[in-house]
Amino acid sequence: MSEEKKQVEKIREAFEQEFGRFVDLRNKLSDLGLAAAENLQREISEFKTRHTGKKSEIANAKKLIGRVAPEERGSFGQFVQSVEKRIVTAIDESESALNDYILKAKTERERVDVTLPGRRPRVGHLHLITLLRQQIEDIFVSMGYSIEDDREIETDYYNFDALNIPDGHPARESQDTFYTTTGFALRSQTSTVQIRAMERRGAPIRIIAPGRVFRRDTPDPTHVPMFHQIEGLCVDKGITMAHLKGTVAEWLRRLFGEGTKVRMRPSYFPFTEPSAEFDFSCFKCSGTGQSDGARCRPCKGSGWIELGGCGMVHPNVLENCGVDPQVYSGFAFGFGLERMCALMYALDDIRLMFENDVRFLGQFR
Ligand code: DAH
Repeated sequence: MSEEKKQVEKIREAFEQEFGRFVDLRNKLSDLGLAAAENLQREISEFKTRHTGKKSEIANAKKLIGRVAPEERGSFGQFVQSVEKRIVTAIDESESALNDYILKAKTERERVDVTLPGRRPRVGHLHLITLLRQQIEDIFVSMGYSIEDDREIETDYYNFDALNIPDGHPARESQDTFYTTTGFALRSQTSTVQIRAMERRGAPIRIIAPGRVFRRDTPDPTHVPMFHQIEGLCVDKGITMAHLKGTVAEWLRRLFGEGTKVRMRPSYFPFTEPSAEFDFSCFKCSGTGQSDGARCRPCKGSGWIELGGCGMVHPNVLENCGVDPQVYSGFAFGFGLERMCALMYALDDIRLMFENDVRFLGQFR
């Protein structure tokens, strides 16, 4: 054997030895993970460049063809070519087996079973206070009322003075609120909106004003320092207490059903004269005081549920807003939403409504 042929034979042997690890790759692939196969893919591509590239040993060996004796040149040339062909096809076969495998493994991994049930996205919903507020708003809007929204930070004038509660009046005590260092107060009642709305719009006027109010109360099962009220106001010529009772009764009938009754008890508020508190017949026991064979829970067996305060707007209040009490009269009412929710859903702690625990809130939608 010529020196040159020996050299090429060595190249072939070296290749076969190194190629050993890629031999029969097609059969070994199934035990390989996708990650291992991808590593192998990088290795084989490096291996390919080294053994078939321009600077590979077999490429160099081709330069020897010109150096051998002319009579051997033909067979030597064929030999070099056959070795080169062996190297190239061996690598190509392994490489394409590897590529096929990787493609299949990836497709498998990304396969989607479209028959599986979908994952339901968690849908939020409105808070129970908002839901009740909207229900009440709808009822009043259908009776020709508009909805007034106004500020939560007020001056003493709007929270007290304009509502006929002068400095030193005992009613200020029971509604002690939060003050800023610059003399503003967080409103302790939505009655402030009566004043703002009449100042702005005069009379006649029909509004309800839902909103947050604040009081300096230590939280307990029946008190929170921030809660929601809805205020109602109707001022026109010839408005009487009968309109007040009719309106409240109609609203509560629409909310709790036709059979709902309303009663009023004399009371006192500085901004109304006369003043009353209004109760409605219990939605649970329909006023009988008995439900589920025992003392009815929401009304404590009385058959009545106390809801809020009301009355005929005090002439001083009308005057404070530039409305002539000789020409106009009106009624007003106000009540708290949390108390109402607590009664309707038999909650023994109103703080539940502010803890934002979705296990609780999710029950009311
Ligand atoms: N503002 C009163 C309160 O917070 C509720 C109220 C009573 C509002 C009588 C009124 C009313 O408009 O006429 O307790």
